[in-house]
Formats: sequence, structure tokens, C-alpha cells
Amino acid sequence: MAVPGAAALPLLLLLSGTAAGCGYESCPPTRPDMLNVHLVPHTHDDVGWLKTVDQYYYGVRNQEQHAGVQYILDSVVAQLAAEPSRRFVYAEVAFLARWWQQQGEPTRRLVRRLVQEGRLEFVGGGWCMSDEAASHYGGLVEQQALGRALLRRLFGPCGTPRVAWQIDPFGHAREAAAAFAQMGYDGLFLGRVDHQDKWRRLQRRELEMVWRGSDSLEPPRADIFTGILPNMYNPPPGLCWDQLCSDPPVVDGDGPERNVDEVVTSFLQAAAAQARQYRTNHILMTMGSDFHYENAHLWFKNLDKLIAHTNARQANGSRVHALYSTPSCYLRELHRANLTWPLKTDDFFPYSDGPHQFWTGYFSSRPALKGYERLSSGFLQVCNQLEALAGPSARAGPYGPGDSSVLREAVAVAQHHDAVAGTERQHVANDYARQLAKGWDSCQVLVANALSLLGDTKDPLVFCNGLNVSVCPLSEATPQFTVILYNPLARAVSWPLRLPVSGASYAVSDPQGRPVASQVLPVSPVTRRLRGGAGGAPGELLFQAWAPPVGFSAFGVRQLRPGGGPDPPGGQQGQQGHQDTPGGHQDTPRGQQDSEELQIENEHLRVLADPGSGLLREIHNLRHGLSLPVSQSFYWYNASTGDGQSPQASGAYIFRPNASAPFPVSERAATRLVKTAVVQELHQIFSPWCSQVLRLRPGQPYLELEWTVGPLPVGDGLGKEVVSRFRTPLRTAGRFYTDSNGRQVLERRRDHRPTWNLSQSEPVAGNYYPVNTRIFIRDQKVQLTVLTDRSQGGSSVLDGSLELMVHRRLLRDDGRGLGEALDEPGVAGRGLAVRGRHLVLLDPAATAAEGHRPLAQEMATPPQVVLAAGAGPRLRQWSGLRRALPPNVHLLSLEPRGAGALLLRLEHLYGLGESRNRSTPVSVDLTTLFSSFNITSLEELALGGDVPLQGVSRLLWRTPSGTPKPRPEPRPDPRRVRLEPMEIRTFLASLRH
Ligand SMILES: *[C@@H]1O[C@H](CO)[C@@H](O)[C@H](O)[C@H]1NC(C)=O
Ligand SMILES: *[C@@H]1O[C@H](CO)[C@@H](O)[C@H](O)[C@H]1NC(C)=O
Ligand SMILES: [Zn+2]
Repeated sequence: MAVPGAAALPLLLLLSGTAAGCGYESCPPTRPDMLNVHLVPHTHDDVGWLKTVDQYYYGVRNQEQHAGVQYILDSVVAQLAAEPSRRFVYAEVAFLARWWQQQGEPTRRLVRRLVQEGRLEFVGGGWCMSDEAASHYGGLVEQQALGRALLRRLFGPCGTPRVAWQIDPFGHAREAAAAFAQMGYDGLFLGRVDHQDKWRRLQRRELEMVWRGSDSLEPPRADIFTGILPNMYNPPPGLCWDQLCSDPPVVDGDGPERNVDEVVTSFLQAAAAQARQYRTNHILMTMGSDFHYENAHLWFKNLDKLIAHTNARQANGSRVHALYSTPSCYLRELHRANLTWPLKTDDFFPYSDGPHQFWTGYFSSRPALKGYERLSSGFLQVCNQLEALAGPSARAGPYGPGDSSVLREAVAVAQHHDAVAGTERQHVANDYARQLAKGWDSCQVLVANALSLLGDTKDPLVFCNGLNVSVCPLSEATPQFTVILYNPLARAVSWPLRLPVSGASYAVSDPQGRPVASQVLPVSPVTRRLRGGAGGAPGELLFQAWAPPVGFSAFGVRQLRPGGGPDPPGGQQGQQGHQDTPGGHQDTPRGQQDSEELQIENEHLRVLADPGSGLLREIHNLRHGLSLPVSQSFYWYNASTGDGQSPQASGAYIFRPNASAPFPVSERAATRLVKTAVVQELHQIFSPWCSQVLRLRPGQPYLELEWTVGPLPVGDGLGKEVVSRFRTPLRTAGRFYTDSNGRQVLERRRDHRPTWNLSQSEPVAGNYYPVNTRIFIRDQKVQLTVLTDRSQGGSSVLDGSLELMVHRRLLRDDGRGLGEALDEPGVAGRGLAVRGRHLVLLDPAATAAEGHRPLAQEMATPPQVVLAAGAGPRLRQWSGLRRALPPNVHLLSLEPRGAGALLLRLEHLYGLGESRNRSTPVSVDLTTLFSSFNITSLEELALGGDVPLQGVSRLLWRTPSGTPKPRPEPRPDPRRVRLEPMEIRTFLASLRH
């Protein structure tokens, strides 16, 4: 039976026609009178974890972890060809794509045939298996779409996966479930849910359910049948036959090693036990695990025997039928059972696999990588848009060949559940960053090509990737340059610029040549230390730029006076004078009892700090006449290294503080006030490794907190997990709110889970939730919202408080396979320093969403800054749109799709009932929306952008409240595209230029 490689081909030809096409029709026959055990051969191939993607693919560093995906695919294909009853499911398209490129036509033909016959089935089918806590919905949808598109291109409709396969992510998000439903998946399978939740569900036989992914979308649009697998994604004990396992093979014959009777008996016992926890006479067993099937012959040969010997017992009255199957064939049987399934509406966070083992540390692990992933996703949108708007010449313009696919794939890889999650080894994290950086390079070429074309410029365009630490060679060295701001949002934005410069004063002019107020301020000591030797500018030029919808503006910058320190008061052309001392700042030494308030202010907000402690004390919203005492400071939890209750240490996955109360980094902060016409700042230094700037600019309705934390000192032998904590007198009764993948908002309650009686054993870690973009607390009247620039863990562990974990440095591994402490080396091994931003909003509770929704969008897809030496583009301002989209509509995707076509995703930003003004249905005329072409017709696609919505027919499931049926979708009219709250619509648009 072992017929590997080429010899398999003739055999296959002989056996062809045994399966009746792919899809549900190709499912193996089952026995309605018996317990059917669906054996699902699979491999779980992490797209990077202990090894890099390359190392896993080729099998490099096998002494550290034996794993080589190329051999897995070789071996599985040969073994499937050898025996037509065998089945296999594969998930990670990042690996499949590489492998496919290296195959010759005979193997490709064979694989196509296996797929057409349903013997090789794709599950999940994203580029990777997304993380669900730290991934933003934009990145999540893109990576799933990328994998699905390739499967469809290679294999046609038979390549399109029917089940989502999230068997390893460490908790599951509601928005992700909604996204899977809207991509057309029929079911979703999960491996990890909280142990208390799982225990309760298996007792009540509620491991399988209908998960309603949205309160806003009309069922069943965001409903997805969801099953929790019995053994995570492993086989039952004793039945593991990979070369990585140590269970004995099935021994038949009549020699002394014969064990087949015991093996079958133990299999039947496992099946019977499992059947008691599920509702139908069908159960699923995952036969495989991490990087299994490198020698697929072992697994398949033993499974062949297990099936044969199990079914042979039917002659003696056994009522168990074992079969090779797939998750979709199993799902189809559950559907046929015609049962009523429980309904779930919350999510599966946080995940714990024991009383002191909350997987809530990874919400914050590797904050720099999380920040880089978010920035990269935003830049990918810019790259996509400019490729669509500038046309094919963006790919082959004056800057050389530009390409969005490198960044698209790198961002897709970064969504993996050990990538953005921060649970990979250090060298693997470095490799993810390397892949992203490579993607930035080729997208920057594309963006430069597009902008030079659209703006008509001969001056070289350059990018400054170090602006967060005030490094930019061009602005530092050049007395005259141009700043181009490209805005990917479909409404105009105003954006603060801060560029390192050597001169003392500058004249800045807007696209119409009018002067723009600007100011040079000294680079802060904290930023100087952070940038190290990377830059040397003494000052930063500040001004407020803006850009039209989906377009750019160019701002001219000309040095008026060379350096030698910041300019004195009085103001130059295009500037307004300062309001205080020379240098634009005044120092308030620590602890000084100053009768003058530490206060910064603009027309929206007045922010007060305590003159004694230097800490934030109160926020006034001047527009709404609201004020709230708010104190904010940094604290660190002492990471547990295990104790009498449990040996569990805090690590990359798990957060476990050794006490509930964190230590303040400092009781007081040394402060320095900077007040000028373009910005007001309060600089706070808490310790040599922890500082912050509170910042208000004219026109800005939020308080910006720019924090700089690290390298965390661990010379005392204590792992540290640093949080920014806000305290208010709001009566919150344990309630707080966090977002789901940056989109929906879910209510959280301290020490509470919506669907079971929680026995809480970790008062801090057990109350942490993923914060993708925002967390808020509120009472009847006011809401305090904090927006983040990357994913972080957050909670409200005390009434009226909220906190976000900004950084963690740990000295122990937490025993989940990583085998490495989360101790990021940073620059020169001194430990990692991280800088990020929190935007704080204080609003009337009733209208708060109208503040945080658009702002979160700006954080996720910020404008891109491009510099040009000299005068820059002849065209100083350009918009790809004739008019802005309405304030509740977001242009989520704008990508080229061949000649004369575009992929468009439009999104309603607000949830049902979230805002009186904005949570209403809205219509958009797309025909004349764009300035350089008209849209003549639309085809509506499912969310993945790969299949026509008309062609999507999902299985319908009955819940206690009935069987919701989809409404027929009328053919979209490009003149009136209507969006309901929280709806995303995906279109293939035909254009006329
Ligand atoms: C499914 O169950 C419902 C309600 O119990 C019943 O009315 C219906 O006929 C059943 N459908 C099938 C195909 O058995
Ligand atoms: C696009 O539509 C507008 C308004 O109907 C029309 O004036 C314009 O000529 C059209 N442009 C193209 C390229 O078809
Ligand atoms: Zn995994």
C-alpha cells in the first residue's frame, strides 16, 4: 500500500471517479444507525513560532523543533494518492503557496485532482491562522482574503474552504466570528476555550452552538455554527501515530506484539466518552497535531488499520462506524440532524486552562512588534489605494518596480497567532519585523511612484521611518523641503507634524501658498536618549497639516534662521508668538509648591495636573461643560514566578502578578510645561525608564498621552509588567467596555462572565481583556475613553478605574512551549524601550461614540508623511474623491483588480443604537464618488472579496428563537449603496476612465 511519489499516479487514474466531486457531495457515507466517528487527519503548521517561517518550511534547526512543512505536504499528497478513502485537511496557505511554486506540473495536477475529489480539503484557508486578541479587523479580513483568493485561483470553487478552523488561538473574538460568517463559512471550529466554560458546556452538551457575531446585523448574517473540539486539536490519548509521538503502532497479525484489540477497545471507549458530550450520533476526532505528517505514511497506515478493525467489530454487534472525514463533512451531518442549537452572543475571552493560568499576558507581549504590525497594516491600505488610483504605472515608475504584495504577505503573516500575539521566540519576532520592513521598502517605491505621478514632481521623494524618535536625515539637513501628507480616509483630516530640524525657525506654507503657524521646539531629553546616535537635530518643527479625502496636500518648508537654539519669542512670518518664556517652555521643578496650576488647555479641553505630584488631576470638557477628576500614573505588577497556590509563572502567554496591587513607578513626576501657539505639553518624568508627555493642540478634542517606557530594569530579579492606570470617581459597578478586533464594543464586568458562574481565582489577570483600539468606563452622564495605537491588555480592576498594560519584561518562561523568557533585548541588549500613544476623551455618555469612532479610524489608518527635497510636487493638493463620504461611512478597502476594476469595501462605522445621529442607515452614490473615474456597475462579493454574494448559500441553523433566513440581496445599485449599522459591503466595481 505504500506507494509514494510518482508511482501513485497510475493508481490514482485507476481509482478516479470514486468520489463525486468536491464539497458536501463528496462526503463519505455514514451509518445513521450507528455512532459515526469522523477521523480528521490534519497538521497544525504555525506560520512562525519557535522557528521562523522559512525555518519551518524547509526544516532548518530541526534539533530545536523537528518540523519541515515542505516534507509534510510532499508526504501527505503521496499518501492521499495511494489510497482513495484517505482524507486530509490543510489550513495555512502561506506554506501551501510556497510549496505550490516549487511543484512540477504532474504534482500540481495530482493535487488539483485530490482537491476536486474532496480528498484534500482546505479549512480556514487564510494565509495563516489569525490571532483573535491582538489582530485588528482590517488585518484579519485581509489575511483571510489573501489565502482564500489563492485557493480559488489554484483550485476554483473546490478550493474555497467551508469551515473556519481556529483550533489554536488563545481565545476567540466576536468580531472575528462575524467576519467568518460574512465570508461565507458554514461553521467555525475552536480548540481552546476557558476550562470552566468548557466543563460546563460538556456537561450540558453545549460544546456546539450558533454564535451570533453581531447585535447590529440582521441574523443570520453574522451567525456562525461554532464547535469546540474535544481534545483541543490533538488525538485522543494513546492514538497518536506520528513520528513525533510515542504511542505504539497498531499491531495486527497473531504475533506476541499484537495490540490491535486493545487499541480498538480504547478507541471505542474514547468515542463513547466523547459521544456523551455531544448531541448527535456523529463525533469528530482530530488525528494530528503540531507539524505532524512529515512522514504521513505512519499516521495513515495506522488509521487505515484502526478503521478496518473498528468497523470489523460491527459484525459482532458493535455500533460504531469509523471513517476518514473532514470538518465540513462532519458539519454537514450535524446540519442534517436538524436539532435546535444553543445561541451565544458574547465572546471567548479571556482564556484560561487552569485556575491561575489566564492567557492575558499576550494581549500586551512585544508592544513594539504590535505597534509595528498596526502601522504596517495602515501603510498597506495607503499602498493599495495609491496602486488603485495611480494605475499600473505605480508599479513601474521613476523609483523602480514597486509592489504591494510583499507588504500584503508580511502583514498577513504578522496576523498569525504567534506573531502579533507576541508569543514567538525572539529571533522569530526579529524575522517578522524583517519581513514587514521588506514590505515597507517595496510599498514605499510604489507610493513614491504614485505620488510623483499624481503630483507631477521631479524632486526625489523620501520617507522618514524614524519620526517617532525624531530622526529624519532630509529635514535635519535641508533648508528647504516639502512635506506631502497622504490621507487614506474618505474625509479630510488634520494631522500634527513634528519633524527634526537644525534651523531655528521656518516658514511653512500650505497648498495654496498661505502661511501656516509653526514653531521649533527643542527635542526633549527623553527623545534624545531614545534616538541614541541615530539623529542629531537639536529641534523639532511643529505645525498642523491637513489633507483632503483619499488624497494629499503638499506643504512647503523653508528655513528662515539657521540653528543655534530655538527661536526667541516674537514670531516670524507665518508664525504666532509664544505665550511664555524663551525656548517655549518653563520648568516646574519636582515637588515645588507652585501656586500656579500645572495646566494645559485648548478650545476643547482644560487639563490640570497636581502641582505637588505632577500627576494628571482633572479633565474639563469645555465644549460640553463637563469635568471629571482623573488621575493617571504608571504602575508595575511584580510578575509571579510561581507560588504555593500554583507553580504558574507569568510569561509571554500568561499574565500572573504575584499580588493584586501594583507598585507605583513613582509617587510623583518631575514636570516641565511647554506652552506655545501650536502645542501645549506637560512633560512628566516618573523614573529614568518611564516618562510621558500630556499634549493638547488647537482644535484637538482629545488629550494625547505619549508614553515612553523601558528598558524595564530587572536587575532586582523581578519581572515587571507596567500599566498606565486612570482613576476617577465614576461609579462603574464593575463594568467597563472593550472593543472586539477594533470594531464592536463589548461590555465587561469584573469577576463575571455572561454565560457561566465564574469562580474567580486571579483577581487581576482574570479580569484582563484584549483592547485592540479602545477601552472605556462611564456612568449615566460621562464617558472616559482611552484609545490605543496598538493592541494591549486592559481592565478595570477597581471601580472607576481603567488600565492598559504598556510593556512587560519577564525572566521566566510560562511553560506553554515557548521555552524562552519574554525579555526583549532592545538596542544593544539593554532591554527594549517602547513609545506609544493613548488618546483620552471625556464626553457626554450619549454622544461619546461620535468622538471615539472617527478617532480610532485615524489611529488605524493614519496619514502617511512623505518628504521631497526642494519644491516638491507641482500639484499641491489632490483628492481621489469628488466629495467626502458621510461621517458614518469608512472606505475600508480600495484595491486594483485588474484593468478597469476595483475591489471596494465600504463600512458603516457605528453599531445599532450606539449614536442617535450616526447609527442610522446611510446611502452613498458611488458612480461619481471618485475624481478620476466613474463607477459604472457593481458586483457584490462576500466579505472575503473572492466569491459573489449571490452565489453564497450558507447552511441555516435552528436556535431557540427560530431559524433565521437570509434576505435575498437585490443587485446593488451603484447610485444608492445602502449601509446598515455595522455593515461592511464588498464590491467588485467596473470603471470608466
Ligand atoms: C426538522 O425539525 C423540524 C421541527 O422539529 C420539523 O418541522 C422538520 O420537518 C424537520 N426537517 C427535517 C428535514 O427533518
Ligand atoms: C462621470 O459622471 C459625471 C456625472 O454623471 C459626468 O459628468 C462625467 O462626464 C463622467 N465621467 C466619465 C469619465 O465618464
Ligand atoms: Zn499554533
